[in-house]
Amino acid sequence: MPDTTNKKKWNQYWRENVNKSVFFNTLVALARKYYFAKAFAKFIAGHYDVKGKTICEIGVGSGLTLSYLKKMGAAQCVGIDYSPEAIKFSSEQIKDCEFIIGDAFNLGRFGEKKFDLVYSLGFLEHYNKNEQKKLISEQKRLAKECVFIEVPYDIFYFRWLFALNKFFGRTLTFSDEEMFTPKTFQNLGLKGKSIPMRRTFYLTIGYFENVCEK
Ligand SMILES: C[S@@+](CC[C@H](N)C(=O)[O-])C[C@H]1O[C@@H](n2cnc3c(N)ncnc32)[C@H](O)[C@@H]1O
Repeated sequence: MPDTTNKKKWNQYWRENVNKSVFFNTLVALARKYYFAKAFAKFIAGHYDVKGKTICEIGVGSGLTLSYLKKMGAAQCVGIDYSPEAIKFSSEQIKDCEFIIGDAFNLGRFGEKKFDLVYSLGFLEHYNKNEQKKLISEQKRLAKECVFIEVPYDIFYFRWLFALNKFFGRTLTFSDEEMFTPKTFQNLGLKGKSIPMRRTFYLTIGYFENVCEK
């Protein structure tokens, strides 16, 4: 099971306020804060009517996208992360959502279909195939209507960034994760809709599945 090493790294990442000592991480954090968090929220709201819905983000990190979804009219927004430092970071900045420490592999304390929408951003790609399958089935168990998964898109002009980060020995962000295509989602046994995301300049791909139709 996961992944005490990465848990320590994520904890350090959020404790140091996204490793300000690493210039690349500062850039990513600024891009998330001033562009991508809202772009993700708009993309989600463009495919799923969030008004009045209960929403959960798994691996919530900064909590910024969740907060945008709340402002777009969601009734209740809950973010879960296994890093206590992430939960401290997000709950200090964002007051209109709830943030809870929890491991995405073990969310048994939440009943089935607890939230209308359950989503993750930049999360699934950090795990191997078996783990990804477990995470997706846990995400589906919690969702009443819809699941959404956002991951890096395997497009030619993005590969250089991963290679560069690997070269510099960076970990976690755009370096040691998997890049996805629609086929990657199919290979995980998923039958919903995969959409390369124009709003993120095709750096990411989103997967939607309407679980209530099943
Ligand atoms: C790239 S960050 C996500 C950033 C976040 N979506 C945001 O908008 O700021 C991945 C997050 O997933 C969390 N995470 C990784 N594995 C987890 C697990 N098994 N359970 C809960 N959270 C996990 C990490 O602590 C980290 O905060």
